[in-house]
Amino acid sequence: MAEIIIVRDQDEAGELYAHCVADLIAVNPFAVLGLATGSTPLTAYQHLAWQIRDRGIDVSHVRGFALDEYAGLPVEHPESYRSVITRTVVEPLGLDPRHIHVPDGALETLPTAGEEYDRAIAAAGGIDVQILGIGTDGHIGFNEPGSSLASGTRVKTLTEQTRQDNARFFGGNLDQVPTHCITQGIGTILKARHVILLAFGENKAQAVADSIEGGISSFCPASALQLHPHATFIIDEAAAGSLKRADYYRWVYANKPEWQGI
Ligand code: PGA
Repeated sequence: MAEIIIVRDQDEAGELYAHCVADLIAVNPFAVLGLATGSTPLTAYQHLAWQIRDRGIDVSHVRGFALDEYAGLPVEHPESYRSVITRTVVEPLGLDPRHIHVPDGALETLPTAGEEYDRAIAAAGGIDVQILGIGTDGHIGFNEPGSSLASGTRVKTLTEQTRQDNARFFGGNLDQVPTHCITQGIGTILKARHVILLAFGENKAQAVADSIEGGISSFCPASALQLHPHATFIIDEAAAGSLKRADYYRWVYANKPEWQGI
């Protein structure tokens, strides 16, 4: 199963992620990072930016692939995921924008954009570390419940819940939130060599418990990570609140040899 690390707060989670990724880039300057939007990863990116600066790590060759993008939203829109990734990752980390890929949400090329994206990931050698948030319904990327566990990057229809959750980024105006998106598939995510899922807060507790301790089901997309050979959940106490075996996960982590890393 995945490794479950229960942390004090977002800062502790962010430090663990940042150490892991900074160590990777230090030994492999051409590392390929899987990038996520949403509020969850922001602290982790901040810690990674500090690590890169403090350790003087060269990131000029790092490549990045975002998880998803809205369909039909112009890339220059401030809430396009291209814009969000530029603001929250590329600029703070000092990455070269030419090496950062976001699925193409342009309507004209949408039918073929998914396959092209998966080909680009493969051509880059695959993703080394994929960071993920999780939706309250267990979605990862924009793979809503019911998504095929073998799916590649493709167009999906957003649920009304996700559109309402994201309306806050569009001035609270639901009509402005696109109805479709293009997202890495669950099968795409499972190909990343290491997946780190972060979750904070009580409202994620049920989705976290279903993902880790429930059955593998397309109705909880994050449960597919049970099939992944190297998945790490880094969650706070509130998000761990519905786990039946939380004490065991704490004990395992407390007794883990330091050389193993995460
Ligand atoms: P959040 O979103 O990080 O803003 O909570 C997570 C998600 O929907 O995947």
